[in-house]
Amino acid sequence: KKAIGIALLGLGTVGGGTYRILENRRKEIEQRLGQPIEVKKVLVRDVNKPRATAVPIELLTDNPAEVMNNEEINIVVELMGGIEPAFTYIKDALEAGKSVVTANKDLMALHGGELLALAESRGVDLEFEASVAGGIPIIRPLKVCLAGNRMEELKGIINGTTNFILTKMTQEGSDFSEVLKEAQELGYAEADPTSDVEGLDAARKLAILASIAFNTRVPLDQVYVEGITKISARDIEYAREMGYTIKLLGIAKEEEGQVEARVHPAMIPSCHPLAAVNDAFNAIFVRGDAVGDAMFYGRGAGDLPTGSAVVGDIIDAARNHIRQNRGRISCTCYDEKVIKP
Ligand code: NDP
Ligand code: HSE
Repeated sequence: KKAIGIALLGLGTVGGGTYRILENRRKEIEQRLGQPIEVKKVLVRDVNKPRATAVPIELLTDNPAEVMNNEEINIVVELMGGIEPAFTYIKDALEAGKSVVTANKDLMALHGGELLALAESRGVDLEFEASVAGGIPIIRPLKVCLAGNRMEELKGIINGTTNFILTKMTQEGSDFSEVLKEAQELGYAEADPTSDVEGLDAARKLAILASIAFNTRVPLDQVYVEGITKISARDIEYAREMGYTIKLLGIAKEEEGQVEARVHPAMIPSCHPLAAVNDAFNAIFVRGDAVGDAMFYGRGAGDLPTGSAVVGDIIDAARNHIRQNRGRISCTCYDEKVIKP
């Protein structure tokens, strides 16, 4: 059978993790799909840069046309980050009839509606599980598994970098900028870590989650944002003396038909389950009218955890691609039978 062609746009922290999972688990993935998969191209800025993830040199390119004009590529996986050129490349891929998987919350928070409409009009997938909370399944559970609920509240820790910083400041008395450097070295932080520490990354994720959970559009500029840069060692110490732990929370609630969404540091009773979410872990609580309380917990950043969510989306997109192609073949046979007497 012909391989399902995959292109990665980006081979940094998440791109590297994704490539390694695809290669290490290729046999099992192909068994699941009943069809081979193949990474055909990897788009990067600099093909000569030394890389943590070994990829055959002939796969690397800095020319996006080698992806968009390649008919053997069925799924484009955007792991570059930022708005442009990611926005243009995703639109080009969807226009060309390719399914897209992305981990890009900046883009999905700003242009998700437009891109999802484009994907639907082309009959292809646009999947973005990895854009919120790294390896934790949360987009699909909200979109599918909990779709029968009227959501009342969603709240949680949705930025790994700030949770890592607050944990180290609380438990080890570490210095803010030293821990931020460590988070960057571990691959948790955004290319510009200001968006982590000022709460914007969490706000983008909250806009995405709240839009899905409350089945409405929650624009990014309507999310109140306050980061952790003003939290001092003394604030943390005072909170601890009173039996509280400081965490950066994202909270969204629906009241009288209006969704209120906000991101800010909060004092949580130290016995609360969220207070025990440490390092780069994330946790999200949802309250639905039918399910009651549900909680999602796991690694919210990093190469393999995020790659895990990306690969899950790739498998799903590949499965849909196979299903659609089967549909096309059986449709042709049926038409032929009808036409020929
Ligand atoms: P990195 O900075 O580690 O990697 C970015 C990659 O994209 C690099 O390989 C870079 O190429 C490539 N790239 C960037 N711009 C261009 C361009 N204009 N043309 C071609 N290639 C380009 O980022 P991350 O892997 O950390 O993040 C990727 C995405 O995943 C972002 O949207 C981020 O928000 C999201 N994300 C990240 C998580 C994490 O834990 N890091 C978790 C969840 C989501 P080169 O190597 O040549 O410089
Ligand atoms: N910079 C992000 C974080 C990566 O720290 O949570 C995961 O989205």
